[in-house]
Amino acid sequence: MAFKKVDHVAIAVNDLNQAIELYQSILGKEPEHIEEVQEQKVRAAFFGVGETNLELLFPTAKDSPISGFLNKNPRGGLHHICLEVSDIEAHLAELKEKGIELIDETPRIGAHNKRIAFVHPKSTGGVLIELSEPQDQ
Ligand code: CO
Repeated sequence: MAFKKVDHVAIAVNDLNQAIELYQSILGKEPEHIEEVQEQKVRAAFFGVGETNLELLFPTAKDSPISGFLNKNPRGGLHHICLEVSDIEAHLAELKEKGIELIDETPRIGAHNKRIAFVHPKSTGGVLIELSEPQDQ
């Protein structure tokens, strides 16, 4: 079992267009990819930064997990870190065996059609961690 890289760092924002403009100005480039992920009730904008990405996350519904986060953190902020893995089921099984609490015991589909699962921040020192495994298109 090996983690491959930090796939993305996700930032919750309360105005997506404004945040895209801000990061466009900071990074000096446009986002490579903008996508609505219906299952997670978010719209996500991705900026490539070397091997990894910054993901700006904006809620598309009141019951989106990002809406809950923004209620507690009205200015937005760091939401989660995503680690790429090659066999997500094996990783989830091994973490569970170690007593790490999982939010998703089985993978679901996230942005870029990747298989993803979240690990509970209770078990990771307060950081929401997402695992993701790319699928061949
Ligand atoms: Co993510």
